[in-house]
Amino acid sequence: MEDWEKAYQALPGEPYLQVLEKIHAALKPKTYLEIGVQYGFSFCLAGPQTFAVGVDPNPCIQTDLHAWSRIYRQTSEAFFISYPGDPFDLIFIDGLHQYEAIVDDFCNAEQYCTPQSIILIHDTIPLSAESSKKDFDPGFWTGDVWKIVPTLLQARPDLTIFTIACPPSGLTVIKGFGKSEGISSEVVDQFREKEYAWIESRKKTALGVVENREDIWMPLLLNKKS
Ligand SMILES: C[S@@+](CC[C@H](N)C(=O)[O-])C[C@H]1O[C@@H](n2cnc3c(N)ncnc32)[C@H](O)[C@@H]1O
Repeated sequence: MEDWEKAYQALPGEPYLQVLEKIHAALKPKTYLEIGVQYGFSFCLAGPQTFAVGVDPNPCIQTDLHAWSRIYRQTSEAFFISYPGDPFDLIFIDGLHQYEAIVDDFCNAEQYCTPQSIILIHDTIPLSAESSKKDFDPGFWTGDVWKIVPTLLQARPDLTIFTIACPPSGLTVIKGFGKSEGISSEVVDQFREKEYAWIESRKKTALGVVENREDIWMPLLLNKKS
């Protein structure tokens, strides 16, 4: 069986693009930042009320964009050095799928957050050792993005963090910004060395996984009791 098929079997329910669409509809963010735009399949989900900023060194947009939008053809690293704009209400990180890059994207993105902002990180539930290896693979590949979740759960108890078990590879929601404490290099070093075998048996707790059911994740997103 192909890994894509296995991923959709392991995590049933609505795929991440549908979940993201519902998040946009619920939050109606005034400003949205997306790191890793590619064909625009997620970027196009921003609504007409949103000013959307996309960042990708190699965007190949194949969709109609609804939002008032602008795409920066550069790496997120270069973007964050020079972008002088206002904070973002919603940020979706889906760029380079390597732990160190995600740590940098998260720390940089946090600088553009208000206490009401929400950061989403894609590809945080790994499927297998092969598809979560650090080196790029043109097939089903999440890289070792998953390591950001236990890193944040340990380093940032000030934040609210949960991972929606949506196919093909999960979507982590992070909120409650305001303290901007960063992530210590000791914690980053601790998780850098972890292998897939470590996470395999403890995905639910170490990734803060919640069921892929809107009646469960939406109240968590909106701070409502379910
Ligand atoms: C998985 S795709 C994004 C998919 C898109 N978000 C979607 O859901 O349809 C990852 C994208 O990240 C981009 N990327 C790679 N390195 C990057 C970097 N350093 N900064 C920003 N984007 C990067 C790639 O060019 C690629 O288009």
